[in-house]
Amino acid sequence: MLDFHTHILPNVDDGSQSVEESVSMIREELRQGVDTIVLTPHFYAKKTTPRELLAKRDEAFEKLSQALSTEQEKPKLLLGSEVHYYMGIGRSNSITSLQIANSGVLLLELPFENTWSDSLFRDVRELHTNLGLQVVIAHVERYVTRWNEKRIIDQLMKEGAWIQANAAFFINPSTQRRALRLLKQGRIQVIGSDCHGIEKRIPNMVLVEEILTEKLGEKAAKEFLQKPYELLGV
Ligand SMILES: [Fe+2]
Repeated sequence: MLDFHTHILPNVDDGSQSVEESVSMIREELRQGVDTIVLTPHFYAKKTTPRELLAKRDEAFEKLSQALSTEQEKPKLLLGSEVHYYMGIGRSNSITSLQIANSGVLLLELPFENTWSDSLFRDVRELHTNLGLQVVIAHVERYVTRWNEKRIIDQLMKEGAWIQANAAFFINPSTQRRALRLLKQGRIQVIGSDCHGIEKRIPNMVLVEEILTEKLGEKAAKEFLQKPYELLGV
């Protein structure tokens, strides 16, 4: 299984606060059957530059890799970022440096207070047409309601985006039916844990795997969970 969205890198954002915590999170991912993890620390253009984030990210990755060198089992780790939207992002060449492991795929977080302006959809389109990136919208369930989800997701997909939902959207009994419906409709392509620590917002992909296996059948669940490998070419 692949976890598409994580804050496992130590001391880069509001995720893991130490190398030890990162190692614990990775052990937990492995225990749950995750063999490939995308590391997606937050990027906020208001706070930092892509170059600064990459320097911080590489340093954290180096420390984590050293700590993992004595571990018996290791997952494949892919470096990326969760890039927070800003107006004009579709024309910012430097954003391409935040794609996931040279895959051309960019995880894009939208503003929570969203007015769904034309300029936002244009930016999503231009990330693709100008910068050649495949956009994946992070945790779509945070921005849409049950009343507008179809319309908004369809428009994002029309602009070329793929849609990521968090594992919690499927695990939470109050939203599970909505999550499964959107997945079956083809409106969710990728799931990530968006894990932030080992005590709160912990790795939880195995629970999604169980739910999908139960609700869709083993074959369809496996096929669905295979998609992100193809998207990233790993
Ligand atoms: Fe996140």
